[in-house]
Amino acid sequence: MRKAILVVASALLLGFFGCGKKSTESTTDGALDGEKLVQERCSFCHNLDPIYSADKDRDGWEKTVDQMISKGAQVNDSERQAVLDYLSSLPGSD
Ligand code: HEC
Repeated sequence: MRKAILVVASALLLGFFGCGKKSTESTTDGALDGEKLVQERCSFCHNLDPIYSADKDRDGWEKTVDQMISKGAQVNDSERQAVLDYLSSLPGSD
C-alpha cells in the first residue's frame, strides 16, 4: 500500500518537473543560460554539491553530463552545450 502511494507521488513529481521544462525550452532562440540550466536540471536527483566540488575539464564534464542524461537528466542538445560551456568555465575546471 505504502509503495503505491510512493509511486503516485513520484509520478506527480515527474509531471511537475516535466511542465517546468517548457519555460526554458521555449527560449532556445537566444543564448541559453548554462548556470540556470544546471541549477534547474541537475538538482533533480542530487543537490549541486557534487557539481561545484568537482574538478573536471570539458572532456570530463562531457562524460559526466552524458552519464546523467542516460540516467534521465532532461537536457536537449543545445542545452547540453550550454551546460557544458558553463561547467567547463567553473573555477577549478582547468
Ligand atoms: C536522473 C537523475 C540525475 C540527474 C537529473 C542528474 N544526475 Fe548527476 N548523478 C546521479 C546519480 C544517481 C549520481 C551518483 C552515481 C554516479 O556517480 O554514477 C550522480 C552523480 C553526479 C556527480 C558525481 C559523480 C561524478 O561523475 O563526478 C556529478 C558531478 C553529477 N552527478 C553531475 C550532474 C550534472 C552536471 C547534472 C545535470 C546535467 C546531473 N548530475 C543531473 C543522477 C542524476
